[in-house]
Amino acid sequence: MEILTTTAEMMRWSANMQAARMRVALVPTMGFFHAGHISLMEMASQKADQVVVSLFVNPAQFGPGEDLTSYPQAFERDVAQARQAGVAVLFCPEPAEMYPPGFQTSVVVAGISQKLCGKSRPHHFGGVTTVVSKLFNLVRPHYAVFGEKDFQQLAVIRRLVVDLNIQVEIIGHHLVREKDGLAMSSRNAYLDRDERQQALCLWHGLQAARQHAMAGERRSAEIIKIVRDVISQHESCAIEYVEIINKDTLESRAIIDEDVILALAVRIGRTRLIDNGCLLHGEDHV
Ligand code: PAJ
Repeated sequence: MEILTTTAEMMRWSANMQAARMRVALVPTMGFFHAGHISLMEMASQKADQVVVSLFVNPAQFGPGEDLTSYPQAFERDVAQARQAGVAVLFCPEPAEMYPPGFQTSVVVAGISQKLCGKSRPHHFGGVTTVVSKLFNLVRPHYAVFGEKDFQQLAVIRRLVVDLNIQVEIIGHHLVREKDGLAMSSRNAYLDRDERQQALCLWHGLQAARQHAMAGERRSAEIIKIVRDVISQHESCAIEYVEIINKDTLESRAIIDEDVILALAVRIGRTRLIDNGCLLHGEDHV
């Protein structure tokens, strides 16, 4: 596995791959890998001849007071895991390499970036779409794999590539959970033992919503109330949002059907966690 740190090296590698007619898949990450990340890499290597994983804690997508400086890191372990997963290139530039002096451009998908997580993190998705646009230009991938854990991010990226005619196929990968149901996230590392237990309220809320939906409840307001009640039982958990939305447009839906998902963001102490899932069919991969 090659470890590249400069944009020049990354572009040279991509040009060589194009000349050799190799099919390339990109998996953008911020590192501190867990089984969700590895599963994305495995999916990428099933699709393409060569897999590029980017590891870049992108300052542009963190707001003031957010966890940029404390974001967990384990570079040596990440390198070993990426190598094990058959990754061809790990691209890990410094911030100054991606945003050199004079950098002035940002790529913003209006509309869906402002909903849900965008309400409390108004500049977050602009930071994501700017860095992902740069990565697409640097790597020129045929495929790019993103997790449904961050389903709003996935929807925003799908919009980005359609709107800007970027020639990459976006592949969504199902949400990977811990055995007890907690959605895997690098940020779970922030949770102490008690908070780790409390964090299960997102999964329990989602399960309660599913049970009521399966039993025939179709009114979103009723289901949202049930989820809020489950989470509110935990005093260290503060709900940011619980919404039932169309999975493509992210528009709120008053009545649930096959095309909705329940999406939620909850603060457990100082840690902000998100989760989501469909309501009328369970997850067959958990
Ligand atoms: P990061 O949080 O490191 O996630 C990298 C990729 O892994 C994203 O596509 C995310 O959706 C996916 N992922 C994380 N947890 C997952 C889980 N439990 N199941 C399935 N997929 C999961 O998302 C980012 O980084 C950044 O915003 C990035 C796209 C790299 C831009 O900076």
